[in-house]
Amino acid sequence: MQKLKQIYEGKAKKLYETENADLLIQEFKDDATAFDATKRGTIMNKGVINNKLSEKIFGLLEKAGIPTHFEKRLNDREMLVKKVKIVPIEVTIRNIVAGGMAKLLGLEEGIILKEPVLEYHYKEDKLHDPLINDYHIKALGVATEKELETIAKYSFKINEILNKFFDSKSLILVDFKLEFGRYKGKVILADEVSPDTCRLWDKTTKEKLDKDRFRRDLGNVEEAYQEVLRRVLE
Ligand code: TMP
Ligand code: ASP
Repeated sequence: MQKLKQIYEGKAKKLYETENADLLIQEFKDDATAFDATKRGTIMNKGVINNKLSEKIFGLLEKAGIPTHFEKRLNDREMLVKKVKIVPIEVTIRNIVAGGMAKLLGLEEGIILKEPVLEYHYKEDKLHDPLINDYHIKALGVATEKELETIAKYSFKINEILNKFFDSKSLILVDFKLEFGRYKGKVILADEVSPDTCRLWDKTTKEKLDKDRFRRDLGNVEEAYQEVLRRVLE
């Protein structure tokens, strides 16, 4: 598939047009940012690792009946994806208190939630991706009721599938963020699923094996991403 014009560059990925108007090439970069890109760095080989991890997880989800933008992996850093219109909402699912939820509610990290929590954040860096609810989303026309129902249904199902999958790899899925896009009248999963977008803790030691190592300067960031890839592909 030939790579044509670059149409987007985000913090971790670039998108290119292809000769097929319905398909794009998604390229994963090694750049890492945190706190609305006020912290910047590079995680060596992150792009290669996240491309392969996303391929595996999108494949797993498709098999379980979740439609995704994934078509196929092209090489180390690129995958072919469907061209979607991103719904400007970040969907977060939390199984264990960490990060933003610990801060928002003054809670200790590590509390196991009685049931998964779904959060919507409005995707707008200059507002720091504020927490919003389904009433905001519907009232402002960000998504329709039917789209939101689909998004919530898919998100909880993805949580079930990924919880089981990561558990089989001795990893705890603490929380994760999803993005959805519109494609030919339907909502499908887009973006990526990787240690950039999931908190993953080792089941035995509770060691953090995700982007929190970069956010919090914990060291061995690349090693943690490599370890997740090794376990996932095992
Ligand atoms: P949070 O606790 O900081 O809200 O993060 C929740 C999950 O979402 C965590 O697994 C990391 C992921 N995440 C992103 O993918 N992108 C972001 O910009 C942020 C803030 C979090
Ligand atoms: N990538 C996000 C940013 O730079 C934040 C994060 O993942 O923590 O805003």
